[in-house]
Amino acid sequence: MRYDDVSDQLDEILVTEEQLLARIAELAREIERDYAGKDLLLVGVLKGAVMVMSDLSRALTIPINMDWMAVSSYGHGTTSSGVVRILKDLDTDIADRNVLLVEDIIDTGLTLSWLHDNLMSRGAASVKIFAALRKPDAVRVDIVADYLGFDIPNKFVVGYGLDFAENFRHLRDVAVLSPRTYAESE
Ligand code: PRP
Repeated sequence: MRYDDVSDQLDEILVTEEQLLARIAELAREIERDYAGKDLLLVGVLKGAVMVMSDLSRALTIPINMDWMAVSSYGHGTTSSGVVRILKDLDTDIADRNVLLVEDIIDTGLTLSWLHDNLMSRGAASVKIFAALRKPDAVRVDIVADYLGFDIPNKFVVGYGLDFAENFRHLRDVAVLSPRTYAESE
């Protein structure tokens, strides 16, 4: 595996950097067609979306603006209410703007579902969703990913922005965390 220092903590590479970049390039062409002649504000959700925001924004050739939110999701467990707390809000007034929410992953879907409704309530002209990854077996709400990179199995994945206890975000690929790794930290 490409990660000598951490490869004993990972089981397998699920999506490679090359696959991610190729898919993002395809989706960027779709976005350019869909937003031709319109304004477009990319909103990244910290911290996981940093990598995909960086790659998607640089793949686009149409004019864009970028802004960021940080949110804290309460209880992704069985009793999750889907309530989200805003830790850092947008700097931008999004009234009448076309917003594209950029996320690393749709897990339960609760975060993006809440964010979508929250941004629509601010008077955005449109709010669409871009997600690099989705776990179809974990999704608990009816949510449409307008632009989707890859569906992946319901495993603990890290890399490309995704973390385990704030580690592994910098890996270029998406990898499955070895159960040994989280067993050790318990
Ligand atoms: C992750 C991910 C999404 C959310 C997806 O963020 O970046 O924002 O969880 O989960 P959901 O579909 O079940 O709502 P996290 O809260 O771990 O914060 P981070 O981006 O800072 O890692």
